[in-house]
Amino acid sequence: MSLEVHVDWAGEILLVGRLFSAERGSAVSFQYAREWLLRPDRFALDPTSLPMHPSMQHSATLFGCIQDCGPDRWGRRLIERAVRKKLLVQKPFREVDYVLALDDHSRIGALRFRTGPGEPFLSPSVGVIPPLVRLAALLRAAEAIHFENETAEDLRFLLGEGSPLGGARPKSAVRQEDGGLAIAKFPKADDIRDIGAGETLALQIARNAGIHTVESRCVTVDASSVTVISRFDRENGQRIPFLSAASLLGLEASSPGSYTLMADAIRRFGDAVTEDLHELWRRMVFSLLASNCDDHLRNHGFLMRQPGRWSLSPAYDLNPVPEMERTQTNQTPVSEEYGDSSLAVAMEVASRFGLKPQIARKILGEVFTAVRGWRDTGKLLRLKTGTLNAYASAFENPLMEEAARLLKG
Ligand SMILES: Nc1ncnc2c1ncn2[C@@H]1O[C@H](COP(=O)(O)OP(=O)(O)OP(=O)(O)O)[C@@H](O)[C@H]1O
Ligand SMILES: [Mg+2]
Repeated sequence: MSLEVHVDWAGEILLVGRLFSAERGSAVSFQYAREWLLRPDRFALDPTSLPMHPSMQHSATLFGCIQDCGPDRWGRRLIERAVRKKLLVQKPFREVDYVLALDDHSRIGALRFRTGPGEPFLSPSVGVIPPLVRLAALLRAAEAIHFENETAEDLRFLLGEGSPLGGARPKSAVRQEDGGLAIAKFPKADDIRDIGAGETLALQIARNAGIHTVESRCVTVDASSVTVISRFDRENGQRIPFLSAASLLGLEASSPGSYTLMADAIRRFGDAVTEDLHELWRRMVFSLLASNCDDHLRNHGFLMRQPGRWSLSPAYDLNPVPEMERTQTNQTPVSEEYGDSSLAVAMEVASRFGLKPQIARKILGEVFTAVRGWRDTGKLLRLKTGTLNAYASAFENPLMEEAARLLKG
């Protein structure tokens, strides 16, 4: 099977190359198109797994940039249910079929796929992206998935207009009042805390700490918190190429990686290198102090605005994890050279982020102050006292004590 791979770039849809897939499984090959390689503004879709080269390139697994615009656990669950209910034209025998099952219109990043000239981009859009007023209907459909009593209509809704995008938690594409695309993240019936409120709180504390974050707001739907997050890979109606840190590093999303490795990748492929290195160090310290422990390599992303140069996307998927649950999550370590992540280690490696000790200290102080004010920030967001109490141990923790000692010393 062969597919044309296109990229939306600066207002044009351009053929970049062809993807070939084995009949079953995940083995793929890709070849850049001649006309793409002749363009002065050509770039590699993925500098690590698909460097620019005229010959055919092979891989045992789907190239990182293509995985990044496909589904993760939530979308896969919907697709597998849709197969069971015989709703999909193409059974996902090949890994790429999962990618093609997602709606083209709301696909993450700027890649688009079709079987040949004149054919529609896959999956062809089924209709309009649901407006915010349909959140209650989307939430009910997502709950039906959880309880395994969904109808074919629920699945069509969530897989079609509500295109599932990446990630493990239930979510849907939605359209904001101003027409902009957004992601709605829903609660799960077995959540033991208000996760949406926690994410909204973490994003606000991160903003207070000087971190560049996604725009978000918490909306109450049927007494549940739904986080509505503006898409950062769409600007003025154009698609912006996206790559996860896992892809930029050429690692599996499940492998730990490290912040220092991400810093090396920024130095190699970055655009605003110094700024991004400092921003990454700030995010790392935030993740330590605010217990943002579900901090894997797909929760860091890069956007391309200059051909071939990748800059940090706004920070997203920030979730404070209370002390009791911390062992169940996988936190990206500060450095591959040290066992435990601590602020002492963060200070030790600051030079790999181009930071002098006194600047690192200043950033640490700013993040510390923002995290210390977590309860006031929560109150300003009008979060309930019970909800805030559930997160206390995420913000009042031994690393905050270590930071206080370091800043005093
Ligand atoms: N604002 C955004 N704009 C564009 N793409 C985004 C945005 N936020 C997230 N993404 C993409 O969607 C994916 C899923 O989002 P997110 O990480 O918030 O979901 P999740 O289900 O909480 O993830 P996880 O599996 O880490 O728990 C991200 O990995 C990223 O690729
Ligand atoms: Mg995530």
